[in-house]
Amino acid sequence: MITRPKGTYDLLKEDSIIYNNLLGAWIEICDLNNYKFIKTPTFEASSLFHRGVGETTDIVTKETYDFKDRGNRDITLRPEGTAGIVRAIIENKLYANTNNYLKYYYYGPMFRYERPQSGRFREFNQLGIEVFGNVSPYVDAEVINLGIKYFNSLKIDNVTIKINNLGSKEDREKYKKVLVEYLKKHEDELCEDCKTRLETNPLRALDCKKDADKEFFKNMPKISDYISDEGKKYFEELLSNLEALDIEYEIDEKLVRGLDYYDYAVFEYVTSDERLAGASTICGGGRYNNLVKNLGGPDLAGVGFAVGYERLATIVKSLDLVDVNETIDVYIAPIDAKNISDALIIGTDLRDAGFKCEIDYRDTNFKNKMSTASKMNAAYAVIIGEEELKDYSVVLKDLKTKEEKKISINNLADELYINF
Ligand code: HAM
Repeated sequence: MITRPKGTYDLLKEDSIIYNNLLGAWIEICDLNNYKFIKTPTFEASSLFHRGVGETTDIVTKETYDFKDRGNRDITLRPEGTAGIVRAIIENKLYANTNNYLKYYYYGPMFRYERPQSGRFREFNQLGIEVFGNVSPYVDAEVINLGIKYFNSLKIDNVTIKINNLGSKEDREKYKKVLVEYLKKHEDELCEDCKTRLETNPLRALDCKKDADKEFFKNMPKISDYISDEGKKYFEELLSNLEALDIEYEIDEKLVRGLDYYDYAVFEYVTSDERLAGASTICGGGRYNNLVKNLGGPDLAGVGFAVGYERLATIVKSLDLVDVNETIDVYIAPIDAKNISDALIIGTDLRDAGFKCEIDYRDTNFKNKMSTASKMNAAYAVIIGEEELKDYSVVLKDLKTKEEKKISINNLADELYINF
């Protein structure tokens, strides 16, 4: 038997109901906030992610699905959505002829070659937004708020926002020097990964899980001491905007995120749901002021986030937040197989009238048909019998009260409107 690849899953049964539900709520909230939908390819030129996400990040060095296509091009399955959207903005010159912010939302599959575990897949889905325009702490607050409003709309409230200020590129260069000096003094104590990070990506040492309990870790130099006055002012304004919107946050000086494109604010939404231990970040994002320029576009700053769909769905499922019981309005049951064509026509007309119908085309006994109607939680059955058809009627059965009523086919939809 051929089985699905490791780290992937089939979306089935109630999980597919939850998916549609969470996606519907996502589209609704993005539309309410006037974000436009954008869809970019699931694979892109590898160089986009190398330059965009960062050559030395874990994602690019260890986790991308890279391959040569049949035209010998270097292709990568997208590990995240931001770089592709920035590419689309530049390639389609979406920044031209606009005076206001460009606001996009997206959803779709992402691919990372990670060790599969609860909340961590090799193919997973993200729901995200990206906003492009001048740097503004108001826009950052709007972005963070949209995430909160989305989670609230799903009745999830055990989410905390962790936020940090990574400053500008110049601020980070100054900080990196001091950090590297400090880490070098403690090189013997560093885990193997951090020894490599020291050369490639020293900031990532800040959120190392292996070294977190060691003494040297607690006394690490702080990035906040190296941020310019302008950067500090921006961040204070952002925090006061969050307060004005009643958004609770926690400053986490060790939050650096796993992608290289961020400047200034970075944030994560973390849940206390135990099932996601080790994968408790359900959403991550931040500001990226140089990515558009670095990928060959104009000087346009961006900010956004992406929700990890599977992690969100785990919470929604464990808290029973989505009604996964499926119901239908009407089950169309011809008593005899020779009336199946009548069933097709009556059922199709009822669907046109807006009722959710299931039509039974099987050549099976009537008892089986009614048993299926009740398994599908149908509110009504339309029973098509030879006798009633003679005067162009059917029997309408209320499956809750078991009450039956002979009714003209011409009046069927009106009768159902009255009852629903
Ligand atoms: P990220 O933090 O790499 O950020 O991913 C965002 C979210 O995707 C994570 O918080 C997590 O919930 C989910 N996620 C990541 N990897 C996996 C996985 N292997 N399995 C299941 N879920 C996963 C980004 O991707 C940025 N593009 C976010 C962003 C948008 N920043 C600015 N704009």
